[in-house]
Amino acid sequence: MTQTIRKAVIPAAGFGTRFLPATKATPKEMLPLVDKPLIQYGVEEAVAAGCTDIIIVTGRGKTTMEDHFDRSPELEATLEARGKQQLLDLTRSVSRLARISYVRQPEALGLGHAVLMAKELVGNEPFAVILPDDIVDATVPCMQQMVQAFAEVNASILGSEVVEGDAISLYGCLDCVSTGHDPRLKAIRNLVEKPKPSEAPSQNAIIGRYILTPRIFQMIEQLKPGSGGELQLTDAIKALLQHEKAFCFQYEGKRHDAGDKLGFLKATVELALKHKDLGPDFRAWLQTQHF
Ligand code: G1P
Repeated sequence: MTQTIRKAVIPAAGFGTRFLPATKATPKEMLPLVDKPLIQYGVEEAVAAGCTDIIIVTGRGKTTMEDHFDRSPELEATLEARGKQQLLDLTRSVSRLARISYVRQPEALGLGHAVLMAKELVGNEPFAVILPDDIVDATVPCMQQMVQAFAEVNASILGSEVVEGDAISLYGCLDCVSTGHDPRLKAIRNLVEKPKPSEAPSQNAIIGRYILTPRIFQMIEQLKPGSGGELQLTDAIKALLQHEKAFCFQYEGKRHDAGDKLGFLKATVELALKHKDLGPDFRAWLQTQHF
């Protein structure tokens, strides 16, 4: 029987160097994309996929994330006294999204190492991983699509998308073969972290959405440092292939790399245009501008 995906790990311990100086004293994950911090999109996507427990991997200087998802009694009392019911509901809803635990990654030793920090809290069950830099704008939230696909294969699944040209060297690269039944799901034959463009086996990139079986933790524990001298999740998944099948999944939706200044700007404009309250006025204003 397929197990349900109850837990999601969100790695959020990185320095955010691509965003300096904004991220010198503020976690990248707390930068507001339209009207919510980046990490809230990841948490909401996990919740929409049915996850009840979120494990955020944090590091030094990241405590504002914990405050964000916590109750805020003084703020709530003030909003209540001023009769600001809508803002009060909004504030409370953030603290009621899910059960959130925090685990620290003491040193930035790579994505594989960050995921390993969640081993005790995940336990022996398949779990989701959401990289908050990758914002996927989709009718059915990306992780929800993947949870549905997991029910078909009961094995690890990686979100994937085709990227153009040399951009493949910024990602984990997948070599996959069709499985026959669901055209969105392909079996992974091989994967390489950030290959040189000339050595990339395909243009198929891993995006920041994974469902992993718990054996991945053993694989990470046995890893040697890979690309960039870090413990790479991609290498651990490659080792996992010796024991189990794993699949890549072509999700429906549009991904934004919000971990990069330009990607963040593009995501801001697109999501602002779609925003229920701000969208119409923002669109009207944009149309009056001559850039
Ligand atoms: C990480 C992964 C990489 C993946 C990417 C998706 O890289 O290591 O395999 O393709 O996320 O965003 P990072 O962007 O953290 O360097």
